[in-house]
Amino acid sequence: MKELIESLWNDFQSESKTTKDSKSLDELRVKFLGKKGGVTNLLKQLSKVPMDERPSVGAQVNQLKERIQQILTERMNSLLTNENERKMQAEGIDPTLPGTAPNVGTLHPVSQVCDQIKSIFLSMGFFIADGPEVEEEYYNFEALNVPQHHPARDCQDTFYLENNQLLRTQTSPMQIRTMEKLKPPLKMIALGKVFRRDDDITHSPMFHQVEGLVVDENVSMSDLKGTLLLFSDMMFGKRPYRFRPHYFPFTEPSAELDIQCIFCQGKGCRVCKMSGWLEILGCGMVNPKVFDAVKYDSERYTGFAFGMGIDRIAMLRYGINHIKLLFDSDIRFLRQF
Ligand code: DAH
Repeated sequence: MKELIESLWNDFQSESKTTKDSKSLDELRVKFLGKKGGVTNLLKQLSKVPMDERPSVGAQVNQLKERIQQILTERMNSLLTNENERKMQAEGIDPTLPGTAPNVGTLHPVSQVCDQIKSIFLSMGFFIADGPEVEEEYYNFEALNVPQHHPARDCQDTFYLENNQLLRTQTSPMQIRTMEKLKPPLKMIALGKVFRRDDDITHSPMFHQVEGLVVDENVSMSDLKGTLLLFSDMMFGKRPYRFRPHYFPFTEPSAELDIQCIFCQGKGCRVCKMSGWLEILGCGMVNPKVFDAVKYDSERYTGFAFGMGIDRIAMLRYGINHIKLLFDSDIRFLRQF
């Protein structure tokens, strides 16, 4: 037995020296340590060894097995490293060169503001409605109490299409579409693209608005104030505000909500045009004529509505001074958000 162990060890030593790659080293492993390998064979023959010699011979076979295993592992590691290096050299790969960092995207600032607005109004129990950008004149104007020759049409220079269709100039038509579908009570917001023939550093022919509408019995101006101030607090933090009387054809009375300028804290600066105030939205109590258009009982129901420019909110929140920056898709700009 002793001789067998010794000769197996000698065989292994001489054969392992001649293996040049990982494949033949693995064959060597099978030959010595595999199920039918030399070492396994020796272990099987242990039963023929006399009882009193068995423990010491067994220990020797185990020792042989461990030594072979150790040598195989070391040699395999060094062969694999060499093979990898040769492969990389052949392919012309230099692992010491600095890598290229992958480009990671971020949400567009307008998308981020949309998400914030949605989550604020969802938390107050509003639902989100969605509607077409190519709109009918009826929904964009007539049903909202802006008849054909009404001067209010001039405030929103419109892209007209054929067949009494147009690119919606506001999200307000979603008020009509929602009320045509649903009975009160309802609390709705609708966000999306709107279009006007306007183009300067604060106006773009395409921009985004969010519309809001609440209808129920006994809805009052104080509900409007409570809701919109809570929104403003959550969006901009608690700050001085004022409701300024205004005119919109679809609300009566109407107002605009101003908050104290977030850049100069009311002292007066370029962004607030030295007024100390920033206008953030238009709002008002739903005009009974709008309820008439959707056959809601205006004796029984009242409501309030509001509309807001989302791009403008994004510009205020992030201190962006030119609206085109939002639509140029310049990576250097977008990466900052
Ligand atoms: N649609 C108006 C605009 O584009 C914004 C607006 C004002 C919407 C008052 C409303 C509202 O719902 O009540 O200028």
